[in-house]
Amino acid sequence: MMSDSKRRLVVEGGEKIVDFDNKAFKPIPEEGIEMAANAMRRGVMYRYQPKTKEESITANFEKKFAEFMGVKHAVGGNSCGSTMFIAMNIAGVKAGDKILSNAFTFHAVPSVIEHMRAEPVLVESNREWGMCPDDLDKKAAETGAKVLLMSYMRGHVPDMDRIMEVVKKHDLFFIEDCAHAYCTSWDGKLLGTFGHIACFSTQSSKGMSAGEGGIFITDNDEYAAKAVLYAGSYELLWKKHYNLDPELMDKLQNQIPGYSMRMHEVTAAMLTPQIDRLSVIHKIHTENYMRLESIIGDHPNIEVPAKMEKADRFYDTMQFHVTGLSREKADRFIDLMKMEGIPMQIFGAKRNARDYRQWTYVAAHKEVMPETIANIEFACDLSMQPHLTLDNIEVMGRVIREVMDFVVAE
Ligand SMILES: Cc1ncc(COP(=O)(O)O)c(C=O)c1O
Repeated sequence: MMSDSKRRLVVEGGEKIVDFDNKAFKPIPEEGIEMAANAMRRGVMYRYQPKTKEESITANFEKKFAEFMGVKHAVGGNSCGSTMFIAMNIAGVKAGDKILSNAFTFHAVPSVIEHMRAEPVLVESNREWGMCPDDLDKKAAETGAKVLLMSYMRGHVPDMDRIMEVVKKHDLFFIEDCAHAYCTSWDGKLLGTFGHIACFSTQSSKGMSAGEGGIFITDNDEYAAKAVLYAGSYELLWKKHYNLDPELMDKLQNQIPGYSMRMHEVTAAMLTPQIDRLSVIHKIHTENYMRLESIIGDHPNIEVPAKMEKADRFYDTMQFHVTGLSREKADRFIDLMKMEGIPMQIFGAKRNARDYRQWTYVAAHKEVMPETIANIEFACDLSMQPHLTLDNIEVMGRVIREVMDFVVAE
């Protein structure tokens, strides 16, 4: 539809028409830079350095994020992986325990389970890359596992009604990995508010970006108290947090190991103005995604799976299945897209870290997971950062169609 004027592709010696970087990470808002620079100028980078919680950038960031999510507590950490590690400690996971988790996710997730010396039980994904509730039910029954660490990989939402039924049926301790699920909801309820605990990432490719960082959220006072201590608060430093129960803190203080996984004041400064930015970029992401889908969605070799009706996504990335192509041709498509200036990856190819068969440090990497393999084998992954304009999106759509047509015809 977009490519009436026949253009020679870069591989044919033609000119590149892409003059933007779809993967470039978001800059820090000026207000955040100012706040961070001030903290550095004053030499106040440690979150417990300010005398009161009111003066602590991190404590105020936590308060604001908890309000944004509509939960009682947020605790800053130095990565999402760290906050998931803390969550698993709170869940009481011991070495050798079985943990239900996605067969399709990023390797940071099984790595956290390995960090606990526990054992992942991998659960199949559906065509839209969410966790399959039926397989979750089956694996929970078969293994007796009591903890679920579930990723909303690339912001894809499974059938949360069914997932919650299974969680209740097996009485699972449910930790939500919301690394990719900012502003993402099911039937109007934000992801991150379904489980006992949820963890967000603020690594640079994520919806809120600070290089590194993580946020732990919960409505439960005891989990929040423990998270503060596991992250590395000792003695009376818990007083520099909002909303903790003093009696509980007095009881638990110094009784729980502190893993030095605290958030940094400079990180919190960079993140503070980004909470309000989330709804702004969510709108841009949605508009860009819908436009791209309208351009490429009807291509005979491209399948953009329809999302579940009750789900609303963040849409900062797009995934689609390449259909009807051999492995070689699919790889060729990716190579030519890179030459055009639009880098992409296929999850199930070239030793990708999102392919569970690569996680050789966990026994489950040897399992045959037919659904997941079918769903990642030809799944392309495209970053769509919010600086992209609708004109950029038109160019991306045109290039994707042109390259696909070229590869099919070759
Ligand atoms: C799905 C998913 N979960 C968790 C993480 C871990 O995030 P972090 O790098 O902040 O530890 C990532 C990182 O990219 C991820 O993709």
